[in-house]
Amino acid sequence: MRSKIVAGNWKMNKNSEGTEALLVELSAKLPDTEAKVMVSPTFVNLGSAVRQLQGSKIEVIAQNMHFAESGAFTGEISADMLLNIGINTVILGHSERRAYFGETDEILKKKVKAALAKNMTVMFCFGEELEDRKSGNHFNVVESQLKNALFELDQSVWSSIILAYEPVWAIGTGETASPEQAQEMHAFIRKTIAAAFNQDIADNVSILYGGSVKPGNAEEIFSKPDVDGGLIGGAALVADDFIAIINGI
Ligand code: 13P
Repeated sequence: MRSKIVAGNWKMNKNSEGTEALLVELSAKLPDTEAKVMVSPTFVNLGSAVRQLQGSKIEVIAQNMHFAESGAFTGEISADMLLNIGINTVILGHSERRAYFGETDEILKKKVKAALAKNMTVMFCFGEELEDRKSGNHFNVVESQLKNALFELDQSVWSSIILAYEPVWAIGTGETASPEQAQEMHAFIRKTIAAAFNQDIADNVSILYGGSVKPGNAEEIFSKPDVDGGLIGGAALVADDFIAIINGI
C-alpha cells in the first residue's frame, strides 16, 4: 500500500535560528493526518533538526548526498554521515542539482545505488523542462530519466523508493501543472514502472508532485488518483502554508 507524503524541500533557506523557529511552529500546528510529513533543512541544520524533532511525527530528510563511502571529496556528505545523525531518507536528482551542479543520470544512478545499499529511502526527483513539454517530448524525457537511473535496480529495493515528479517549468515559477497534467504524467510514470518491473511495484510506489504547490491548489492536485502527495519548495518555508498543504491530503 503506497503512502501519502507531504515533504518540504527547504533548499538553501533558513539559518539555524530560522530552522528551529519553523520547526517549533510546524510541530505546534501539525494536524492529525494520514500523510507522512517530512522536512529537509540544509545540511548544517540537519543534526539539530533531528534532535529537536525527536519523538515527533515529522521526519527530517537530506537534500543530497555523495555516492562514495568516504574519502577525498571536499564539500560532500556521505550516506553514513547522514545515517549517523539519524537521517534515513535522502532527496536525489532534484532539477537544481541537475541544472546547477552537473548531476547526470549516470551520477544519480550511483547515488541511488549508494543510498539504497545503506538501506536509506531515496526520494528520486525528475521532470521535463519547458522546451520538452512544448515539443511534446515530456513523456520521453521522463521515461529516460527513470530508465537511466532506476531501471537496473533490483525489484526488492522499490519499497525504499519514493518518486517525485517535478516539471522544471513549474518549480519556483508560480506556474503549476494543472491537476490533469499531473495526473496524466503520474499515470504514465506508474505505467512505465509496471512495464519495467511489475504492476505490484508500480501500484505501491508513492509518486509525489512538485512545482508551485500552494495552499490554494494542493487539495485539487492531491485529489488525483495517481498523485500521492507533494514535494513543496517555497510554501514549505511558511508554517501556515505548509500546514494548509498537509491538510489538502
Ligand atoms: P516550489 O514549490 O517553490 O515550486 O519548489 C518545488 C521544488 O523544487 C521542491 O523540490
